[in-house]
Amino acid sequence: MKILLTGAAGFIGSTYVRIAGSEHEIVVLDKLTYAGRPENLPEGTKLIEGAIEDPKIVREAMEGVDAVVNFAAESHVDRSIDDQDAFARTHVIGTGTLLDAVRELGVERYVQVSTDEVYGSIESGSFTETSPLDPSSPYSATKAAGDLLVSAHFHTYGINASIVRGSNNYGPRQYPEKLIPLITLNALHGDPLPVYGDGRQVRNWLYVEDFCRGIHAVLQSGKAGEAYNVGGPDECENIEVVKRVIELTGADPSLIEYVQDRPGHDRRYSLSSDKLREEIGWQAEVHFAEGLEKTVAWYLDNEDWWGPIRSGEYREYYEKQYGKALG
Ligand code: NAD
Ligand code: DAU
Repeated sequence: MKILLTGAAGFIGSTYVRIAGSEHEIVVLDKLTYAGRPENLPEGTKLIEGAIEDPKIVREAMEGVDAVVNFAAESHVDRSIDDQDAFARTHVIGTGTLLDAVRELGVERYVQVSTDEVYGSIESGSFTETSPLDPSSPYSATKAAGDLLVSAHFHTYGINASIVRGSNNYGPRQYPEKLIPLITLNALHGDPLPVYGDGRQVRNWLYVEDFCRGIHAVLQSGKAGEAYNVGGPDECENIEVVKRVIELTGADPSLIEYVQDRPGHDRRYSLSSDKLREEIGWQAEVHFAEGLEKTVAWYLDNEDWWGPIRSGEYREYYEKQYGKALG
């Protein structure tokens, strides 16, 4: 297949290129926001710089492709609380622009990469694909709108589209605004480790390669008009994640600082992946303990990757997000 991957200069899409790139011809369309980094892509990957909400560049990039996987997103919840504009543009207008082009050009297959956050928070049990959408943040609300547009294009025009909803990913090349890389790099530098609220929120951790294998399985075998959850094998409270990173880096536990909670913070995410396992045969291979060790080791070995990020745009963001709370 010739596959167009949007947003694949980011964390998850670039991992997908590593997994699917040996068997398929890959073209990447990416706006190269702060999170989109050409150096994430294996050498020789065809990269077109452009936004998914730009109909002209989308049609040029989509010419002659068999399938599209849409990874492109503004992915950070805290940034969406500060300013939702880019989130609505990319997740709603951008997804709609891709879907129009898929229909007009007769592309055979479309996969929308989405998130467990569209279901909202769950106190006990796990969300299935039939759970109602109940997003809490501007990030998840706009992602849910993108999912609904995909369903609408399936029902209205019959396009061959599926949706994949993943739980919290972690692994190499995740931008350090996210909990695990942020805590790891702060621990290495002896900086404070900010924990929102009481730190007892639960996330359902999924190693990024497992998510990418799930996405690829859905691309190949998922049914049109259907959504598939891809949940991690383990759940963990945030404070426990932070303590494990402290153990792996040898940092001082007194670096932990409880700071003001995220507004509208979802307490717990949990996904049932039964449908994907039973219908397509996917299951997660990497448990959290093993994946976290590999991830921390990757950050220890790859200062070339995170050094320039930490001293660039990220510094400004970090000051704005944490400056007051951490003094
Ligand atoms: P990321 O922030 O690392 O990468 C996003 C990429 O999208 C970047 O390369 C960026 O330049 C690009 N992009 C942003 N706006 C664009 C636009 N308008 N046009 C073209 N490119 C654009 O994000 P990620 O963590 O790799 O997430 C990828 C996808 O997976 C997203 O759709 C996200 O919602 C979803 N997801 C993420 C997680 C997670 O834990 N990170 C979990 C489940 C689902
Ligand atoms: O669940 C899937 C989602 O996971 C994806 O759709 C999003 O793109 C991705 O960013 C992620 O969202 P979260 O908000 O769960 O991830 P984040 O790494 O921002 O935070 C994880 C948890 O840690 C969350 O409960 C908030 C908390 N946290 C986060 C940061 C950055 C802290 O306590 N301190 C922090 O400094």
